[in-house]
Amino acid sequence: MKIEGISAVVTGGASGLGLGAAQRLVGHGAKVVIVDLPTSNGEAVAGGLGASARFVAADVTDEAQMRAALDAAEEAGPLRALVHCAGRGGSLRLLDKEGAAGSQAMFEDIVRTNLFGTFNTLRLAAERMARAEIKAGERGVCVLTASIAAYEGQIGQIAYASSKAGMVGMTLVAARDLAQRQIRVCTIAPGAFDTPLLARVPQAVRASLGASVPHPARLGAPEDYAMLAAHIIENPMLNGETIRLDGALRMAPR
Ligand SMILES: NC(=O)c1ccc[n+]([C@@H]2O[C@H](COP(=O)([O-])OP(=O)(O)OC[C@H]3O[C@@H](n4cnc5c(N)ncnc54)[C@H](O)[C@@H]3O)[C@@H](O)[C@H]2O)c1
Repeated sequence: MKIEGISAVVTGGASGLGLGAAQRLVGHGAKVVIVDLPTSNGEAVAGGLGASARFVAADVTDEAQMRAALDAAEEAGPLRALVHCAGRGGSLRLLDKEGAAGSQAMFEDIVRTNLFGTFNTLRLAAERMARAEIKAGERGVCVLTASIAAYEGQIGQIAYASSKAGMVGMTLVAARDLAQRQIRVCTIAPGAFDTPLLARVPQAVRASLGASVPHPARLGAPEDYAMLAAHIIENPMLNGETIRLDGALRMAPR
C-alpha cells in the first residue's frame, strides 16, 4: 500500500511511538487522524503536523467514540491504514508485600485498555477498510503494537504482559480472518523505547536499560518504530506476523 495520499488513523498518536508514526505518515503524504484521550496533547500535536493531520479525542475502548474518529478519517478518503499505539502500563504483583492478593480491578483495567481496546479498534477499522475499493491488490493495513513483555514479561508486568501476549495471539487470527477482505494485520513488539511512557522510570534505570540492549546499545527512538510501521504498510507480503523491534534485547526477570 502506497502511503502517499491515503487516509490513516494513528491511535495513541499524541505521544511517543504513535506520534512518531503520525509524523512519518504525514511526511510521506498521508492524511492522518490522531486518536487519543481528551486529556492528551493531541490537539497541539496535530496542529504542529499541519493541515494533513487532525485530532479526534476518543478512548479506544469506546465504540461510539471510535466510530466518530473513523468517520472523521473517512472525510479525507477511504480508510487505508491503522497504526494502533494506544496503550498503558501499570505495575501489579500476584501478591503484595504483605502477601495479600493483587488487585483484580487493576488487572482488568490494563487488559481492557490494551487488549479489549485493540479488538474494538481493529474490528471498527476493518469494517471501514472492507468497504474501500481494492487498490493494488489490497484494501487496507492494520499495524498493532504489542511489546517484548508478551514473551519475557518482568515481575510486576503480569497484567501488561498478559494483554500484550493477547495481542500477539490475535495477530495471525486477525490476518487470516481479514484475508478474504484483502486487509493485512501485523504487530510490532517493541523493546525499550524512549517515550513518555518510559520517562516515568528514573534516568539511571533508563540509561542502564539502554546500555543493556546488545546492539545498538541504546533505547529505541519513535522514528525506529515509525520506520517499521511504514514499511509494514508498504510491503504487501508482510501479514499475520509479530515483529520484534528490540536490538536483540531479552528482558531479565526484574
Ligand atoms: N515505550 C516503550 O518502551 C514500549 C515498549 C513496548 C511496547 N510499547 C507499547 O507502545 C505503545 C505506545 O507506547 P508509548 O511508549 O508511545 O507510550 P506513551 O504513553 O508515550 O503513548 C501512549 C498514548 O496512548 C494514549 N492512550 C492510553 N490509553 C488510551 C485509550 N484508552 N484511548 C486512547 N488513547 C489512549 C495515551 O494518552 C498516550 O498518548 C503502547 O501500547 C505501549 O504498551 C512501548
